[in-house]
Order: sequence, then C-alpha cells, then structure tokens
Amino acid sequence: MVEVSGRQIRKFVAGNWKMHGLGSSIGEARAVAESLAAEPAAARVAIFPPATLIHRMAGELAGTAVEVGGQDIHAHAWGAYTGDICAEMLKDAGAQLVILGHSERRNTYGETNEVVSAKVDQARRAGLEPIICVGESRSQREHGRAIEVVRAQVKESAPLSIAGKPFSIAYEPIWAIGSGLTPTIPQIEEVHASIRKVLVERFGAAGNVVPILYGGSVKPDNAAEILAAREVGGALVGGASLSATDFLSIIRAAG
Ligand code: PGA
Repeated sequence: MVEVSGRQIRKFVAGNWKMHGLGSSIGEARAVAESLAAEPAAARVAIFPPATLIHRMAGELAGTAVEVGGQDIHAHAWGAYTGDICAEMLKDAGAQLVILGHSERRNTYGETNEVVSAKVDQARRAGLEPIICVGESRSQREHGRAIEVVRAQVKESAPLSIAGKPFSIAYEPIWAIGSGLTPTIPQIEEVHASIRKVLVERFGAAGNVVPILYGGSVKPDNAAEILAAREVGGALVGGASLSATDFLSIIRAAG
C-alpha cells in the first residue's frame, strides 16, 4: 500500500512479456493466478503478453486476481494499417489495459510524444486503461537532463482528455531496461517526485492519485527496496515477469 493524499492505494505490479511467449507460457500466468487465489496479495497485478495470447489469457484468467493487457495500439481508431492493431481490437480480445510509449517502441519505431498522446486518447475511447512509459537515455542522464526530459514526456504524452480517468505512468530509464542496472533509490525518488509535480500541474487533484510505477531491471532481490521508495506506486517488470516464481516474489514484495 502507498499513502497518497491520506488515501491508501494498492501498489500495481505489471508484467511486460514483450515479444516472448507462446501458448505454453500461459501456464506461467496461470501459476501466478493460482498462487494469488491461495494467498491473496496486497498488490494489483496485470500481465501484458504478446497480442497473440491476449484472447486466450483473458479467457483463462477471467475472474482471477490477474488482469490482462496489450503492449501497444495504433494511434488511429481504424484503417488501412497492415499489421497493426487498434484499441477496440485489444478491448475486443479481452484486454483491460495497454502499455503505451515504451522506450522500445519510441526508439525502434520513432514514436514521438505526440504519437503516444494520440494512442492514449484511443485507449481512453475504447475503455482501455493505459500505462504511459517515460524515461531518459543514458546520455541524457549523464548530461543532467533526466528530469527535464521526463517532465516533457509526461506533459506531452498524457493528453488532458484522460483527466480523471484511470491511468498510470511508468518511469523506465532506458539505460536500466534489461541491463541489470538500476538507478539509486534517491534518483528514483527524485524523478518520481518530479513526475508527481507535473501530474498535479496538469490534472489538478486527480494527478495526486495516478500511480507512478518504476521499471527497469526490477528483480526479486531489489523489488522490496524499490517498491518501498517514496512515490513508487508499483513496478513494470520485463524479464523477471516471464517466470511465475520471480514475478510472484516481486508481487509479494509489494507488501
Ligand atoms: P526489464 O524490462 O525488467 O527486463 O528491465 C522492463 C521493461 O522494459 O518494461
């Protein structure tokens, strides 16, 4: 639990499977759901499998403590976009949430804040709850620009249309993703505090209750410390979410 403006809010632990997982991997998600059924966790839990698994996983996990989301959507509602998937399609497949603006998409596909903002708006229209990812590169941090970059990303990627709607921000320093490196706790707290400030500037009191997740090499052995840091409302977990054992240990660390 994290206290925000006098309210207790559940921490949110989200597992991003990225381009990993076939039908057999659903067993890992099932194992997480079974463990949470036997021993409920304090945290909210969601898994974001590749799009091909969403429909099956949503069916198998219906009624369990594990929610299912997608990893991206197109910035337009419908159209001639071969190979792409729109918000309504993810929703129709059973997704409740969607990760948007992950650095792997910003960097590989040139997604700008403007594109991410359009995607967030599409998610809102379809009733999908977005997790909006932000985070600085190694060189931006080395040049002392981390706060400035992240502030601009939050401001420009979170449209005013989502004011009061459920969404989260995930702070994922690019240099920490998949690298085994993590920022220090004071560095995480500094960025999270600056994100909270932008959220309140932009959305007023509603900005106070938006969960701010940390992501980037969250593992069973560092999860408790990271999740206990000020303004850390949860974790976005990549590699360690692929194993039910590791993911559960992170979920349990969320208190
Ligand atoms: P990682 O990935 O936990 O493997 O570093 C995090 C992410 O990209 O969401």
